[in-house]
Amino acid sequence: MAKIFVTRKIPRNGLNLLRAAGHQVKVHPKSSAISRKGLLKGVKGAHAILSLLTDKVDEELLAAAGPQLKIVANLAVGYDNFDLAAFKRHGVLAANTPGILTAAVAEHAFALIMACAKRVTEADRFTRTGKYKGWEPELLLGTELAGKTIGVIGLGRIGSQIIQRAVRGMDMKATYYDVRRNEAVEKEYGATFAPVADILKTADVVSLHVPLLPTTRHLIDAKALRSMKRTAILINTARGPVVDEKALVAALKAGRIRAAGLDVYEREPKLAPGLAKLPNVILTPHTASATVETRSEMARLAAQAIIDVLADKTPSNLIPLA
Ligand code: GLV
Repeated sequence: MAKIFVTRKIPRNGLNLLRAAGHQVKVHPKSSAISRKGLLKGVKGAHAILSLLTDKVDEELLAAAGPQLKIVANLAVGYDNFDLAAFKRHGVLAANTPGILTAAVAEHAFALIMACAKRVTEADRFTRTGKYKGWEPELLLGTELAGKTIGVIGLGRIGSQIIQRAVRGMDMKATYYDVRRNEAVEKEYGATFAPVADILKTADVVSLHVPLLPTTRHLIDAKALRSMKRTAILINTARGPVVDEKALVAALKAGRIRAAGLDVYEREPKLAPGLAKLPNVILTPHTASATVETRSEMARLAAQAIIDVLADKTPSNLIPLA
């Protein structure tokens, strides 16, 4: 019987699947993040770990688990919390949950785009605090999306769905940057490929969909923000450190861009000083993939990768170890 350590309470279907496969499953019983000390202790002797994006899986953790460890499956599509070189050194496999959260995240990015454009949260606060005294021709004017340009930085599965929704659903034009050109998306949606600097200068909405890498850390810094249109909306549902949050607060305060919709933060769960006070920012607590359907599919997929590896099968969602 293999031992599996699950670092946090996850949707029950994932746990049931692991238990039904006959494994001994130990779960950190809280919905808040496990301490580093608790994590190092909990993984000891485990053959598999089901981790969350808040758990740093590095040399120290893999060594603490022991040589019997076969796989760590992350309940997330992003895996910047994994030190893949350490995985390779320890001969441990890594898995994530790609594909199944694409629609949920694209829909969340769109919720932020539309809420920023139409000032939905500002209008809600205005109305519920009794400030609405009657219809006014220039009350809370927003901006339309039809005919405007969305600039997608990072054209993976989620970025592609953003373009599909923007062009087909909202009558927008699309431009994108990725390390690879995607001719199918260009042909299907009339999207144009452009360098990041051009996208920043021309797009009305800039939506970030890159992984966190040394090359994408602070991709949106003070200089990038200065180059954007004063009317632009910035959306980040990727990873917080892709944006220099302090510089973003300054840009929003000075009206150098119109608004921002953020689901991720540079030092989660902390917010940069002043961010939460700004009226022209919409903040969600890293919930882009948080739908009932998607979170339970994520739990299933991560659990299934563990079951497969423990049965000497190769799951489809292994992360390549270079
Ligand atoms: C969430 O941020 C994920 O990577 O799945």
